[in-house]
Amino acid sequence: MKEAVKLVTLQKGKPPSFEEAQNRRQKARAAGMNPDYWYPAAWDKELTKGKMQEVVFWKQSIALYRGQDGVVSAIENRCAHRQLKLSYGHVEGCQVVCPYHGWQYDGSGRCVKIPHELFGKKMPEFSIKSYPVQVKHGLVWIFPGDPKLASERKIPDIPELDGSDPWGLIKIDVTVKGHHSMVMDNVSDFTHAYLHRKYKPFWDAKLTKLESVGDKVELEYDTVVGGGGVTAHFVNRANANTNRIKLGYEYPYQRSQTDEHIKHWCFILPIDENTTRTIFLFYFAHELVKIPGLGAWRMPGWLLRRVVMPLAKKFQVTPLINEDAWAVAVEQEGYNSHFDRPIAELNPAVHEFQALTIRKWEEHLAQTK
Ligand code: FES
Ligand SMILES: [Fe+2]
Repeated sequence: MKEAVKLVTLQKGKPPSFEEAQNRRQKARAAGMNPDYWYPAAWDKELTKGKMQEVVFWKQSIALYRGQDGVVSAIENRCAHRQLKLSYGHVEGCQVVCPYHGWQYDGSGRCVKIPHELFGKKMPEFSIKSYPVQVKHGLVWIFPGDPKLASERKIPDIPELDGSDPWGLIKIDVTVKGHHSMVMDNVSDFTHAYLHRKYKPFWDAKLTKLESVGDKVELEYDTVVGGGGVTAHFVNRANANTNRIKLGYEYPYQRSQTDEHIKHWCFILPIDENTTRTIFLFYFAHELVKIPGLGAWRMPGWLLRRVVMPLAKKFQVTPLINEDAWAVAVEQEGYNSHFDRPIAELNPAVHEFQALTIRKWEEHLAQTK
């Protein structure tokens, strides 16, 4: 029976679906993400009043817009009338207007106006789905799953970025042409130092801890963090132990920290099997960064945030992430052609990430049966 299924997928010439998958890697590469979490959808500042954009969460199209009252809403991206995408329309006041017959929807998804004759009928009750929305860390987040769970599911707090003198922050937003599980493998599997041999953000990583607890995978590497390239001159090793990094896949997010001085969160928006919007917030303590030759001087916040971070983003972090995005995209190409080849994976952490991704998707499928 198993052989028969395999033959069918091979004949189709495309990777198997989650149900057809024959092994863990195939399952991981076909899994969606559990919608009962908050996912980043847009940058708060970019979604100005009256603006609407399409956001896709795992093949579901959502119209995200900000009304003239400043409130952001997310509604299903289809008109109840003839199923046009509402994102082809526009925002009027706090309503979305469909471009075809002009039906109007409010932020709860209720059709509140039909601007043509009703053929003697009362204004009918038509509704489309709406999604909980919140703004945090400069991002607009949507909750694509069961709205009843929205208040109990939390977006991680980042106290380092609050207050009057926050850490230096680098924001990266990249749409990777690969599956979200490949992104997760990439950000937590430190065996790929070779890819970054030019910038050397880490090298010689040895996995010293790997632990799966509930919906989290925690791991640690002994490695040299930030020791290469130009960056090496700006990292104050007297103040931070940069020989170890702790990482976590805290479903559906990923994070790292180096001696409480360098941290990041990776928030992803899974779009489809081949596309993942990936948002990184990297943040750095004042004491971590130094100007060569100035010794133990504590860097003022303005210099850290307005000068050092933009330079680090341009010359170190963006090129690095572009290397990762490229590698994941070509990994996806390789997988799409060779999904049936034997698994050759050495890092046990990768197995743990994939197992968590699969389990969370199975939980979602079981709930929706
Ligand atoms: S299709 Fe939207 S108003 Fe008719
Ligand atoms: Fe990388």
